[in-house]
Amino acid sequence: MDKTRLADKHVLITGAARGMGAAVAEHYAAQGAKVCVGDLNLDGCETVVERIKSKGGEAIAVGLDVTKRDQMQAAVKATVDAFGSLNVMLNNAGINKPLMFLDITEANWQQIMDVNALGTLLGMQEAAKQMIAQGRPEKPYKIINVGSILSRQAFDDVVPYSCSKHAVLAMINGGAKALAQHNITVNGYGPGVVRTELWEQLDKDLVAIGKFEKAGESMDKLAESMILLKRYSYPEDVIGTAAFLASHESDYMTGQLLMIDGGMVVQ
Ligand SMILES: NC(=O)c1ccc[n+]([C@@H]2O[C@H](COP(=O)([O-])OP(=O)(O)OC[C@H]3O[C@@H](n4cnc5c(N)ncnc54)[C@H](O)[C@@H]3O)[C@@H](O)[C@H]2O)c1
Repeated sequence: MDKTRLADKHVLITGAARGMGAAVAEHYAAQGAKVCVGDLNLDGCETVVERIKSKGGEAIAVGLDVTKRDQMQAAVKATVDAFGSLNVMLNNAGINKPLMFLDITEANWQQIMDVNALGTLLGMQEAAKQMIAQGRPEKPYKIINVGSILSRQAFDDVVPYSCSKHAVLAMINGGAKALAQHNITVNGYGPGVVRTELWEQLDKDLVAIGKFEKAGESMDKLAESMILLKRYSYPEDVIGTAAFLASHESDYMTGQLLMIDGGMVVQ
């Protein structure tokens, strides 16, 4: 691994106390990035920071609710105070709670849209304001949003989540157009079925609403029926693309959502 590939990157990652966000934070730090690990779960952030530091990396932890603008502003400020600037923003925090279409409630819709869509908007806006204030860079600043296969299609048991991830794709497209003039690129990646705590809970919830018969079978069944490569994925499967999007190798890309789904959505 090239330990200097991301050496000039000062990154804020939301939802990074566990799962893919934590794995990406550690992968970035291992390649020289300085990383602010943000999450509702501050203890989890501190554990990730300890792991990064134990391997010689640099990181700080912040408690952060992405649905609150003042907390997003404080997280951006903490990143800049610690590292001197912010040049990569990764909007990763996300939640899901499946319900069949006719059972969707206002609360279910609101909670999912707040975290996944509004949280991404606030992260993009507050990062971009900071980046613009820093002055036009020679090489682009980067905003990276986490989409999903459900940015490109919808399943009947997770319609609010699908809407929220379509919104993430719209913000990648629209944000790229709005921010190019400041030399800020906006891209994203879309995982498919990834074995994290989010999916462990989803697996139980899908049994509760009658989509699968018993716990533990949803990931294998989806892999068999919907994934060309016939296996579900792990956080390690996404970290390479996440690093590419943060690195100078992707400097001439903007407005793109890269799928990392083993072939669930082919174009
Ligand atoms: N796991 C999958 O199969 C899968 C597939 C496609 C996309 N995704 C997306 O990838 C991203 C990461 O998912 P994951 O599987 O690692 O999830 P995860 O549940 O393991 O981790 C998500 C983290 O986000 C944090 N979080 C939740 N609400 C928050 C809020 N309001 N403010 C700040 N932090 C908050 C949680 O505390 C948690 O640490 C999410 O955007 C998710 O929608 C996941």
